[in-house]
Amino acid sequence: MHASTTFAVSILFALPCAHAWGVVGHATVATIANNYLTPGAQTYVAGILGRDVSMASVASWADDYRYTTAGKFSAPYHFIDAEDSPPTSCSVDLSRDCTKSGCSISAIANYTTRVQDTGLSDTDRMEAMEFIIHFLGDITQPLHDEAEEVGGNDISVTWDGETTNLHACWDTQMVEKIAGGENSTATVDSFANTLIAQIDNGTYESQKADWISCVDITTASDCALQWAQDANALNCQYVLQNDESGMELDGTYYTGAVPYIELQISKAGYRLGAWLNALAAAA
Ligand SMILES: *[C@@H]1O[C@H](CO)[C@@H](O)[C@H](O)[C@H]1NC(C)=O
Ligand SMILES: *[C@@H]1O[C@H](CO)[C@@H](O)[C@H](O)[C@H]1NC(C)=O
Ligand SMILES: *[C@@H]1O[C@H](CO)[C@@H](O)[C@H](O)[C@H]1NC(C)=O
Repeated sequence: MHASTTFAVSILFALPCAHAWGVVGHATVATIANNYLTPGAQTYVAGILGRDVSMASVASWADDYRYTTAGKFSAPYHFIDAEDSPPTSCSVDLSRDCTKSGCSISAIANYTTRVQDTGLSDTDRMEAMEFIIHFLGDITQPLHDEAEEVGGNDISVTWDGETTNLHACWDTQMVEKIAGGENSTATVDSFANTLIAQIDNGTYESQKADWISCVDITTASDCALQWAQDANALNCQYVLQNDESGMELDGTYYTGAVPYIELQISKAGYRLGAWLNALAAAA
């Protein structure tokens, strides 16, 4: 491989660091959510997104939009920079951590209001729905609830010998390794079905009620804060527990991370389903 190609490839690998769960993670969250929609919610979502548009296909729209001139304002909505001290102390505090430009919590509240506002244009409501589908995924990625080293973006690590960063590995490389590939309908559906089986009759059966203990769309900000706190705690429990700087993550670290990633993606999907069911019931 030419040096210039190597450079281009490493830029490509570094890019997803700015995203949340990568494309596979977000599409899996949306696919899980879709499985739990009531018939009324299926009609509601289709009425807003368009009849032939799957939630999975729009789940990463917000990541493309944030890099456009029109969508730049939405970049801070993908995370909340918790100014805590992992691994000693983890916490999210809305007044401390949500800046004037907004954060995931204010964005979830805003778009939950907007998607219900029939006075808005169809496009505005569609965008609100697409933001909700995306941000309920983002908020379960622990490094999206963390200011430390720019949510791990500044922690340089290697993945299978390639230089990348901790945040990118959580968004993309580790998720793709668990799912068994890059973005494709087959990969996403199979990963989602594995997790749905755990939610219905497996590991998560007894936990799933906790995941949706707060799905009150009239107190969206309170619920979103709880979701952020829940994910942020994992930074102390595992994600930032040791000094990961310079570590090769495709090994022991990955093995230890798998249960957390599967849990967080399952939780996001199940919760998103419940959130959309609540929106449909209120419509
Ligand atoms: C709510 O969303 C709209 C549309 O994207 C945006 O213009 C507005 O600034 C947002 N408000 C808040 C408080 O985030
Ligand atoms: C992911 O794959 C699906 C199925 O091939 C496709 O429709 C979608 O556009 C892809 N998403 C991205 C962001 O590339
Ligand atoms: C698994 O759970 C689903 C959903 O709750 C239920 O419909 C199905 O009958 C269960 N299957 C088994 C084998 O328990």
